[in-house]
Amino acid sequence: MDQFVIEGGRPLRGEVEIGGSKNAALPILIATLLTDEPCRLDNVPTRLRDIRTTIRLLESLGKTVAVRGGSVLVSSAGSLKTQAPYEIVKQMRASVLAAGPLLARFGLVRVPIPGGCAIGLRPIDIHLKAFRELGAREIADHGDVILSAAPQLAGGRVRLRFPSVGATEHVMLAAAATPARTIIDNAAREPEIADLAAFLVKLGAKVGGAGGSRVVVEGQRRLRGARHRVMADRIEAGTFLIACAAAGGRLRLRGARGADLAAVIAALKRAGAAVSARGDGLEIEMRGRPRPVSIATAPYPGFPTDLQAPWMALMALASGASIVSEAVFENRFMHAAELGRMGASIGVSGAEAAIAGVARLTGAPVMACDLRAGAALVIAALAAKGRTTVQRVYHIDRGYERLERKLCEVGGRVRRVKR
Ligand code: UD1
Repeated sequence: MDQFVIEGGRPLRGEVEIGGSKNAALPILIATLLTDEPCRLDNVPTRLRDIRTTIRLLESLGKTVAVRGGSVLVSSAGSLKTQAPYEIVKQMRASVLAAGPLLARFGLVRVPIPGGCAIGLRPIDIHLKAFRELGAREIADHGDVILSAAPQLAGGRVRLRFPSVGATEHVMLAAAATPARTIIDNAAREPEIADLAAFLVKLGAKVGGAGGSRVVVEGQRRLRGARHRVMADRIEAGTFLIACAAAGGRLRLRGARGADLAAVIAALKRAGAAVSARGDGLEIEMRGRPRPVSIATAPYPGFPTDLQAPWMALMALASGASIVSEAVFENRFMHAAELGRMGASIGVSGAEAAIAGVARLTGAPVMACDLRAGAALVIAALAAKGRTTVQRVYHIDRGYERLERKLCEVGGRVRRVKR
C-alpha cells in the first residue's frame, strides 16, 4: 500500500491544470449503455481508480472500451448483459447507475445492492422509489435487486424526498431511453447533472431544466452515439484552492470554473484569501493565518460535502474558533481524529465539529480513511511543520489524478513511497 511522505511548511506557487471531473465522467460513461453506436469522451481522468472500475463495468456488460490518454472510446460488441457483477459494484457505489439504462432499454436488470461505506449507510431507496413510480417492479433476491418493467418503463412525475445526486442522474439515464416524458422534482442541482444532461441531449434525448430543481426528460427508444468533453473537476479545483489557503502562496488553477465553486470561494474570501477569475481559470493568493469561517454542507449550490474535510483542515489553523456542520452524510468526520494527531483541536458532537484554531500543526503519521478525508490530511501536512506520512493513499487515488506530482510542480514536497 502506497503512502505519501510530505515535508510541510512550504507555500504553494505556480500553476496547476485542473483535470476532468470524476463525478461527471462516471454517469456519462454509464450513459454510453444507452446507445449501440460508438461514443467518444474527452477530458476523462482515466488514471483514477473509479474511472477504471467504471470501464471494467462497461466491459463486463458487453461494451468494448479503448482508453487513449484522457479519451475513452466506447463501442458495442454485440448485445449487452443485464446483470452487473457484485465484484464491481462493491468497489464503487456509482456502478449501481448502470441499472437505469439497462432497465429502460431491456425491461429487466439485476444489480447487487451496494453496501455501506466509510462515510455512512448510503442507501438507494430514493432511486428505487423513483423507478417504482415510473412503473418498475422490484424483487430483492440474495443481496441483489431485480427490476423489471413490462413492456418498458413509463414516463411520469417523480418527486425525490432529498435532492440526491445519484438518484437524479439515475432517473435521467433511464428516462433518456424511455419514449415518454419524465419529470423529476426536487432534483439535485449539481453542475455534474447539467454535464450529464448535455451528453444525453447529444445522444438524442430532450432534457430541460438540468441544473434546476425540476428536470424534464423526453426520451427516445433509440439513441445515437456522440462525442463529449467532460467538465472540469470542481472538487479537485476546490481542494487546490483550500490547500493554497492553508499553506500560503499564490496558485493559478487552469480550467477551474469559478461559477461551480461560488460557496467555497465566498468562504475562502471570508477566511482572508484573495480569489479571482483569471483567463480560463482561477487564481488564489493567501498571506498569513486564515480567519475562522464556519460552514454547513448542503446540496448544491451550498458548500459541497466533498470539501468539508479539506475545509476542516484549513480551519484547524484559523485564528479563532469555527463550526463545521455536515448535513449531507451521516458519518463524515473520521478525519477529525487524524487531524488531532497533527495537533488540531477539534471536538465532534453529532453532525457538528467545533474547531479551535491552533497556530501550528505538526507532522505525524496519519491514515486516510476515505477519499476526501485523505485530501484533508494532505492539506494539513502541506501546512504543518515537519514530516507527515499519509497512509492508505489508495483512497486518494480514487479521486485525485497524480496529486503528488501536481503539488510538487507548485512547490509542495510530496513523495509517493511504494510499499
Ligand atoms: C454524489 C457524489 C459524492 C458527493 C455526493 C453529495 C458521485 C459519484 N458522488 O454521491 O462525491 O459527496 O454526491 O454531493 O457523484 N441518500 C439516501 N437514499 C438514496 C440516495 C441517497 O438516503 O437513495 C442519502 C445519502 O445516504 C446521503 C445523501 O442522500 O446522505 C446524499 O447522497 P447523494 O446525493 O445520492 O450522493 P451520491 O450520488 O451517492
